[in-house]
Amino acid sequence: MSVLCTFPHAARPLLKWAGGKRQLLPAIRPYYPQSFDRYIEPFFGSGAVYFDMLATGRLDGRRAWLLDANPDLVGCYQTLRDRTDEVIEELARLERSHLAQGDAFYYEVRDLRFNPRRAAAPGAYSPDLAAMLIYLNRTGFNGLFRLNRRGAFNVPVGRYTNPTICDPAHLRQVAAALGDGRVRFEGGSFEVPLAAAGAGDFVYCDPPYAPLSTTASFANYTAAGFGPRDQERLFHLVVSAVERGASVVLSNSSAPEIVDMYDSIEARRAGLVLSLVPARRAINSRAASRGTVNEVLVTTRTALPDVRPTPAVAALRRARKSA
Ligand SMILES: C[S@@+](CC[C@H](N)C(=O)[O-])C[C@H]1O[C@@H](n2cnc3c(N)ncnc32)[C@H](O)[C@@H]1O
Repeated sequence: MSVLCTFPHAARPLLKWAGGKRQLLPAIRPYYPQSFDRYIEPFFGSGAVYFDMLATGRLDGRRAWLLDANPDLVGCYQTLRDRTDEVIEELARLERSHLAQGDAFYYEVRDLRFNPRRAAAPGAYSPDLAAMLIYLNRTGFNGLFRLNRRGAFNVPVGRYTNPTICDPAHLRQVAAALGDGRVRFEGGSFEVPLAAAGAGDFVYCDPPYAPLSTTASFANYTAAGFGPRDQERLFHLVVSAVERGASVVLSNSSAPEIVDMYDSIEARRAGLVLSLVPARRAINSRAASRGTVNEVLVTTRTALPDVRPTPAVAALRRARKSA
């Protein structure tokens, strides 16, 4: 039996990930199309939407193509998928030592094991490296994955009294959710799956957000970064995929260039509709800059037949015109 039917109730994301969409799910869910054959998620991260669709039975019997460009994230998931028992064994060991030694153990793993091992064999993930990444993600500050200029993971320990580090049942569910024969999970850049998307596909795009200001702190998920040219390339690929018949949902910040692109005549002609949703920013080291901001949701008109611009979008358009 397909795992997409076997574990619908239990699947939930494994990793905390900057920009994870758990909090935005209630805003995104109404746009899941009723009928599609294949689900494509080219910016997988923690896979909040994938796991939500899985848990709510939307993926039963359907294929999925999941992709991310962060080699550590992909290496960790693939190793968990392919060598599940070994990862669980290693993680259980890390958990025992963490409970006994606390913060000092976090820094030992980060500086004396994880970073040297990553540096010695870039991109090659083994069960102990995958277990270390999960351990650091569960016990590090806000679950951030941040590398310094030399490429070393440098996130400080978080303040958790009793973190769940190793939950074997959950790890097995995630491994199975990524290892099902209908699921293609791989590393790479968004261009390939988007260029292949067309009729019968539902694509959810959650790229690194365009920064709202030049001083905004935002996550650099990969060494290549994600700049204005990437946002433009993504936009054109999304428009083409929609023109070929794909259903698309895309989230991004409400940075002016994003609103201008996705509220343009070209976008509207292709059948894209932009709406604004309030969202709480969770991962930010400065408590003062947490709070509610508007984010953008772009959807194909077919996903919601009766869409009219919300007052917020209309106001934003007027503001953009008079600027
Ligand atoms: C906003 S996060 C996605 C969060 C995800 N939706 C979740 O719920 O956790 C953006 C993701 O895009 C990935 N990424 C960055 N550049 C990429 C590229 N060129 N192609 C594919 N993925 C990329 C990052 O590694 C990161 O995981």
